Amino acid sequence: MQWSMEQRAMAAKKRIGILTSGGDCAGLNAIIRAVVHHASSYGWETIGILGATNGLMSRPCQYMDFKLHKVDSLLTQGGTILGTTNKGDPFAFPMPDGTVKNRAQEIIDGYYELGLHALIGIGGDGSLAILHRLAEQGGFNFVGIPKTIDNDVGVTELSIGFDTAVNIATEAIDRLHFTAASHNRVMILEVMGRDAGHIALHAGIAGGAHVILIPEMSYSIAKICEKIQERQEMGLKHSIVVVSEAVCTEAGESITKIEQFGECRLGGIGQYLANEITKGTGAETRVTVLGHLQRGGIPSPHDRLLASCFGVAAVDLIAEGKFDRMVAWQDRQVVSVPINEAIAGYRVVDTEGTLAKAARGLGICLGS
Ligand code: F6P
Repeated sequence: MQWSMEQRAMAAKKRIGILTSGGDCAGLNAIIRAVVHHASSYGWETIGILGATNGLMSRPCQYMDFKLHKVDSLLTQGGTILGTTNKGDPFAFPMPDGTVKNRAQEIIDGYYELGLHALIGIGGDGSLAILHRLAEQGGFNFVGIPKTIDNDVGVTELSIGFDTAVNIATEAIDRLHFTAASHNRVMILEVMGRDAGHIALHAGIAGGAHVILIPEMSYSIAKICEKIQERQEMGLKHSIVVVSEAVCTEAGESITKIEQFGECRLGGIGQYLANEITKGTGAETRVTVLGHLQRGGIPSPHDRLLASCFGVAAVDLIAEGKFDRMVAWQDRQVVSVPINEAIAGYRVVDTEGTLAKAARGLGICLGS
């Protein structure tokens, strides 16, 4: 959007805040860079809220000032310089004494104490829903930007961090092929993605996996073993299986492990499959759990592009006075949608979509 000198002068002196919330991923810093750059072209100041909404909850509020020269190097930097958390819903915040308290008003007060004109929140569906609720209760100006390696935010075809995670998972499969072939083994790669199988399906096809299992599709161990044996009979003694972390056992039980602080985490389906495949085929199996490698490191060029486009578009929404909206990627362009629409649905894999069809057409076993 082109602004006249007069419009720019009127808009001047606005202060906008930006925060990152939920699990980190590659590309968050690239968004911050884009927002600071574009906001400064409107003559606005941007401040970064530290530790997601916790920065607005603290007194004094915890934030950092941005200067253009400070954000230059952020394009390629992984993680988030603002810090983030995927714990502590402010509407039911766990207190040190074990009680739970609604601390929403403290966050809203923090927004006004900092003299913000608008807040840009970068988050997945859970964080965006919380920020939307806070903005509604506090009557403040909010714009959302979707990020998550799971790529499951509704209405947007892409979220920041997904492409980088797919690249990392694909590279892992590429590497596994060689060692699997050298030892005639079945290699199982367990990837993240929570209840959506996007990472597994994308990376599995791109990496030439032979079996791909995702939470959206049921499977039978017998079918998987059949596929592996078919390959063995053709002289192809190794196979690659990619499985999404939320895939259940054949009997439909979810596999979780209890880790620190009594939290249940997804994980372990790879080892379960390895045991079953060895039982069913006699093949030697090994499991690789890719874990947080998928979230770390340098963002891919595509995530940098998307982050730059989303950051600029979010600032333009503020300039146009369009709030309670989320920027989204649809049909190869950035659009904006009401936050309500984005958080209403959860975007899982279309089991009859292009990728699923391509996988079947390539002879990849999707479990049944
Ligand atoms: O939602 C992103 C994600 O990376 C999931 O794919 C994964 O299940 C989860 O976060 C891991 O969270 P944590 O960082 O708490 O281990």
